[in-house]
Amino acid sequence: MKILAIESSCDEFSISIIDNKKILTNIISSQIKQHEAFGGVVPELAARLHLESIDYTLLAALKESKLDINEIDYIAYTERPGLIGSLIIGKLVGESIAEYINKPLIALDHIEGHIFGANINNKFEYPVLAMVVSGGHTQIEMVYSPNDFEVIGATVDDAIGECYDKVARVLGFKYPGGALIDKQAFVGNKNAFNFTQPKNDGSYDFSYSGLKTNVINTIHNLKQNHKEIPINDICASFQFAATNIIEKKLQKAIEEFKPKTLTIAGGVSANCELREVIKLLGKKNNIKNTIIPEFQYCTDNAAMIAKLAYEKLK
Ligand code: KG4
Ligand code: ZN
Repeated sequence: MKILAIESSCDEFSISIIDNKKILTNIISSQIKQHEAFGGVVPELAARLHLESIDYTLLAALKESKLDINEIDYIAYTERPGLIGSLIIGKLVGESIAEYINKPLIALDHIEGHIFGANINNKFEYPVLAMVVSGGHTQIEMVYSPNDFEVIGATVDDAIGECYDKVARVLGFKYPGGALIDKQAFVGNKNAFNFTQPKNDGSYDFSYSGLKTNVINTIHNLKQNHKEIPINDICASFQFAATNIIEKKLQKAIEEFKPKTLTIAGGVSANCELREVIKLLGKKNNIKNTIIPEFQYCTDNAAMIAKLAYEKLK
């Protein structure tokens, strides 16, 4: 079974081809450089740049996979959630290819895709407890099969990645600043500031807007009082508050849902502290199948959509 998958929900246009369990290619055309000047993704620009990426991304994917387009059995694409203009491009490309080769088209969910980015190496044993952390989403899901997902908690306002990127912007880092905060946090003191714990109320939901405001106000106050900004300490204290709450909520979910697999997915799963938290939780709760996705499958990519499509069809 050969599936060609398209991911275009935000500022990456990506095409991947999977042959049964094997990813043959995963070409990603990223627009980060073009959005950098604006300090964030400009939706209209993202959709226009996707249009420019279609032909060479598709040709590169076919070349690397050594396949002819007519050898593809299914087309899969990210239907939602995401930026509407960006999503439409992926949908139109999917529809066009499916029409051209007369093969079925499958519409998939981006967040379910992120979760299957952690299953590229086929390690999932069900049920799976998955923590999805990205620029647009923060949610805990139980996965009972590739066709049975249950959201048990989600953010009520900002996503964790959005919070990272806004704090990074105020600190003067380039967009997207999540990875740089992670790096600076490594050499900072996490106890230097006592930032608010997002929605520390025993529920499975999250709220990152309070933490974001708390950190940004702290930076502004230091600036107003002409004090030096201890960047590393702010990064470390912020990162501790942002990730410690995830540890608490996942511990509770592990006790309640007793998963066979624990995993993390989405762009923020590239975060070093979060990766450690997941490893420790797995060890502490004796979950042998604790999966930390490879970096290349953390941020948006079409291989995760291809893998999800394959597992659903199987
Ligand atoms: O999954 P993704 O590529 O896009 C969405 O679906 O939103 O996630 C992008 C997010 C950005 O907010 C970026 O700052 C964040 O992932 N990110 C990180 C790290 N690497 C990427 N956040 C914290 N630590 C990192 N190492
Ligand atoms: Zn994503």
